[in-house]
Amino acid sequence: MVNLAAKPILQVDAITMRFGGIVAIDNLSLDVKQGQILALMGPNGAGKTTTFHVIAGVHRPTSGRILFQGRDITNMRPDGRCTAGVARTFQITQPFEQLSVTENIMVGARPFHSSMADLRKASEVYAHKVGLGDKLDAPAKGLSTGQRKRLELARAMATRPKLLLMDEVTGGVDMKSIPGIIDLVKSLRDEGLTIVLIEHNMKVISELADEAVFMNRGARMVSGTPHEVATDPGVVELYLGEAKDGH
Ligand SMILES: Nc1ncnc2c1ncn2[C@@H]1O[C@H](COP(=O)(O)OP(=O)(O)OP(=O)(O)O)[C@@H](O)[C@H]1O
Ligand SMILES: [Mg+2]
Repeated sequence: MVNLAAKPILQVDAITMRFGGIVAIDNLSLDVKQGQILALMGPNGAGKTTTFHVIAGVHRPTSGRILFQGRDITNMRPDGRCTAGVARTFQITQPFEQLSVTENIMVGARPFHSSMADLRKASEVYAHKVGLGDKLDAPAKGLSTGQRKRLELARAMATRPKLLLMDEVTGGVDMKSIPGIIDLVKSLRDEGLTIVLIEHNMKVISELADEAVFMNRGARMVSGTPHEVATDPGVVELYLGEAKDGH
């Protein structure tokens, strides 16, 4: 069990992110502890992906600060954050379509290998780890949604992160692949990685997360254990409302 009194590796400190008149994140604060798996939940448009963008440096927040290992990274460029140990997977996967599985992973692993042969070998290891060992030379463009999500994960892992932000890794993935993804994330946690998951699948959240934060309209609405959040009357009502609207 993670020590929740441990020092946070990531602090999201009173972040607000506006796009014109839209408030995508509204004064959000999060502490992510070393070794923790934190689930970020919430309905469509709640601000979850934008929160990842701000942590990874795609957007500079309108106000607030991001601290990583105690250091203020709010103004650091995305590549600097990656080198510092922040990696993320994308909700909408963006592999280099013409490149093979191994070559896509090589892009992430490149800084750590001086020879091409070592780089290729290390990248193949990550491909095997995510269950793409039989697709090493397949171009990314022919992969299924689940395989593309796994490739995203391998590419992110190849950057040797300390913190991994995973945006809906089980989204659009067939049900039978989900236990494998859960086991994979558990093995990453056991290796010491700190993980923030954006996830809708409650089974995945309750199996993996130490803590869940439920966002609505850019702000934290409820937080606690996955069970506490899932049974919160406000959360239940929001999700039932979405179900009724046909989402
Ligand atoms: N670049 C942008 N420009 C303008 N508005 C944006 C931009 N990015 C996000 N938004 C808006 O910010 C809000 C939060 O979007 P975000 O993608 O973070 O939600 P989300 O919680 O990830 O939703 P989903 O579950 O659908 O992925 C939405 O209203 C969205 O339309
Ligand atoms: Mg999103």
